[in-house]
Amino acid sequence: MTELFTERLHLKPLEHGDLTALEKMFADAQHMWDLMDIPGRSNDATELASFYLRRSLWAFEQYGAGIWGMRAIESPDEAIVGYTGLLIYVGEVIDTTGEVETGWAVAPGHSGKGYAVEGTRAVFDHLFDGLGAQRVAAITSPDNWPSRRLMERLGLVHEKDITAYQGTQVFYAIARDSWRARSVRA
Ligand SMILES: CC(C)(COP(=O)(O)OP(=O)(O)OC[C@H]1O[C@@H](n2cnc3c(N)ncnc32)[C@H](O)[C@@H]1OP(=O)(O)O)[C@@H](O)C(=O)NCCC(=O)NCCS
Repeated sequence: MTELFTERLHLKPLEHGDLTALEKMFADAQHMWDLMDIPGRSNDATELASFYLRRSLWAFEQYGAGIWGMRAIESPDEAIVGYTGLLIYVGEVIDTTGEVETGWAVAPGHSGKGYAVEGTRAVFDHLFDGLGAQRVAAITSPDNWPSRRLMERLGLVHEKDITAYQGTQVFYAIARDSWRARSVRA
């Protein structure tokens, strides 16, 4: 399974050993408010953690991409500082010529360090170059400004508003050519 490295992060596909850290993240409902109250999904931290793990394990098996746990290279024995990757449901077929949905979270103590943008850049490189994705998308609540800022830092563009999850969501996306052009400029 693909592991990714950045200057400060080691990204490894989520594994059973990450469940406690994931659970702790989901237990902070104030920080994770945008991932709560999704119709048909539990708000229980243990159930959410295992739901994320389950779909990630399946996605890596099917597509070679799922959700990566981000570990700080300077403290390799500590728990994951967050996750980033492909949001896909067990049994879902992804069309890499269409929309590939991505998502992320960092533990509250690790927000504002640039980990989400750094890790997600490596994931996008893998989705475009490894998986052959033509477009990558992300959705968030209109009021989730930290997530919107992250999308904009990554170069995703707000294309439209849609109805999904808990109601109106802003839909951002970037095409492979734009991603490549940004990478060349960086
Ligand atoms: C969305 C979320 C992942 C964004 O995390 P984040 O740490 O703010 O995002 P980034 O990695 O882009 O970090 C950028 C911040 O780190 C700062 N930073 C510090 N060092 C940095 C570095 N080396 N590189 C880049 N940014 C750095 C930036 O100035 C910026 O701060 P600002 O937003 O106050 O301007 C986080 O708020 C979160 O986990 N939210 C809860 C889960 C959630 O809502 N997920 C999305 C659901 S759709």
